[in-house]
This record gives sequence, structure tokens and C-alpha cells, in this order.
Amino acid sequence: MSLSLSLTIQTPDDWHLHLRDGAMLKAVLPETTRHFTRAIIMPNLVPPVVTAADATAYRDRILAALPEGADFTPLMTLYLTEDTDPKDVAAAHASGLVHAVKLYPAGATTNSALGVADFTKVRGVLETMAEIGLPLCVHGEVTDPAIDIFDREAVFIDRVLDPIRRTTPGLRVVMEHITTKDGVEYVRANDADLAATITTHHLIINRNHLLVGGIKPHYYCLPIAKREQHRLALRAAATSGDARFFLGTDSAPHVDALKEHACGCAGCFTATNTMSCLAEVFEQENALEALEKFTSRNGPGFYGLPVNQTTLTLTKSTPVDYPSKIACTDGPVTVFDPGFPLHWHVTT
Ligand code: DOR
Ligand code: ZN
Repeated sequence: MSLSLSLTIQTPDDWHLHLRDGAMLKAVLPETTRHFTRAIIMPNLVPPVVTAADATAYRDRILAALPEGADFTPLMTLYLTEDTDPKDVAAAHASGLVHAVKLYPAGATTNSALGVADFTKVRGVLETMAEIGLPLCVHGEVTDPAIDIFDREAVFIDRVLDPIRRTTPGLRVVMEHITTKDGVEYVRANDADLAATITTHHLIINRNHLLVGGIKPHYYCLPIAKREQHRLALRAAATSGDARFFLGTDSAPHVDALKEHACGCAGCFTATNTMSCLAEVFEQENALEALEKFTSRNGPGFYGLPVNQTTLTLTKSTPVDYPSKIACTDGPVTVFDPGFPLHWHVTT
């Protein structure tokens, strides 16, 4: 890695990405393949990607939508339901098709209705996953209506995640898109079987960005952005170099008509400018030397994959001119606005 006004890192991967399907897949895929070589692909389609056969078909649709000449490997996941068959999961893992299983508590977020309500029903799958070393990616929020939305991650750790980990020794878990100091501390207090992804937007916005001076629907995502002390804890974790924290953008496209709506969808679309945003954040934290670990080394380390052999160069100069929207035949998708100019251009 060389440093100055130019920074060269091993090519990054995105360990949590929503690509959707059809016209939206076609529209957003180039935004990721421009800078990333691999991504863990979220399975929350309608209907969800539940079986190995579903994942094979979805992978083929992604490969067919790739821009000409793109070097990109989608790392597929399965959506865990109470009916998931442990044998199907094991076979999907053994064939190299599937790299993780995603746990959505039923009703927690976009397209999670078929997720898990009764955790005793997935014990067999989790035990199989512990045996074969297949990671569980967790959307870590309780759905109990009595729990305040800003507390749902912390309560999930106590009520759901910690009990699952205690009763399933050896289960490898990624806490997806952590948003709290509690999440950071829980990862730090545990062993190498537990890791967490952190999004670009949660390093930049707190709940004031979402709510002060009018509701900003393009900053609404789940888990919801928390108060400032949590954003600072996430920044400290991401820039620490600790191998258990890595980038998962959770870039989640929704058309503007569904974001700017009386009941707006959750999701920030950050694929387009994520690397410029992150370079700016890491520079603000005097931690540019840790960027490569966060974006390119810690993730493959956890997933047991090689680090990419190619490199990506960021160069600092005049503000980056990125599009404010991505066109899709379903309607435009607004690109995440970090609220400050970005100076780091991806130059190769
Ligand atoms: O903000 C979010 N958007 N959080 C999620 O968990 C799901 C995602 C989506 O699929 O839109
Ligand atoms: Zn997500």
C-alpha cells in the first residue's frame, strides 16, 4: 500500500449488498462492479432466495446482467426460514455456491415477512452450519413492538444473539450493519467466530441527519441511524484495523417514488460513491492506512477467501463529480449524499 495524495489498496469487496432483480439489477450492478470484485448478495427478493436452486438461478441472472468485461463474483446467500432444510444448506455450501445464510427476524425490515419468528425451529440448520463452518449473517434487531426502534439492536444482542451463540458453539456469525456502541462492544468482547459489517452511511450520518430540519427519506434505513456517540463508536471500530470489522455497504436501492412516500422504504443507495466516502471518512479519522483492512482484507479473512490480487487507486484532488441519481426504467434511484464534498477519486 502506498500513501500520499494517492492511495493504492487491494481491490475491495462488499460484504453486504442488495442488487434486487430485473430492471433494478441491471441499473445498479455497474455501480458496484466499477469498484468491487466480489459482494455478498442479500437474498431478500420477492419471493426470497430460500433454496440452493433459487440461489443458482439468481446467481445466473446476476452474471447475465454484468456489464461487458466486468470482473465480479457474486457470493450468494440463502434466506433462512423456519422450513429451511439443513441438507439443502449443506449441499449449497459444499458446492461452493453459498457463502452465508441470512437471518431476518420476521418483520424486521424490507421483505422479511418469511423470516424467523420461532428460533427453536432453526436449531437444526444452525447446528449444521456450525459443523460445516458456514457463517450466519444476522439482521440484529428485535421486532417486539414494545421495544423502541432505537433500542432494537442492543435488545437483540441480549435476547436473541447471545443465547443463539451460547447454544450453538462454533457457529460463525456476522452481525450485519451494526449501528451501536453496544454492537461494537459485543464484537470486541468475543472471539474470532464473531465479526460485524459496518455500512458507509452509518459512519457518516446520525439520527439528526435523518430528522432535524425535516424528514430526509434518503437517510432512512434499517437499522435506523442512532445518536452521535454510536456513530463515533462505529468510526473507531472501522478505522481500528481490528480483523473482525469490515465493510458491508448495505447499499439498498429503492426508486425515489417509494422513498419519498407517506410510508417510505428503508435503504440508502451508496454503491456509486462508497469508496470516495470511505476515503474521506478514514482521512478525517487520520486512519487512511487502515482503509485497506476495512474494505479489502478483513472480509476475505473472515470468509476464508483470498484477498483480491488486483488493486484500486484513489487520488485526492478537486471535488468528485458523481451523479445524484441512477436511472432505472422503474424510476430514478437517489445516490447517498454524504453532506460534504468528496475529494478522493477512484482513478484505476
Ligand atoms: O435499510 C435497509 N434496506 N435495511 C435492510 O435491512 C434491508 C434493506 C433493503 O432491502 O432495502
Ligand atoms: Zn441489507
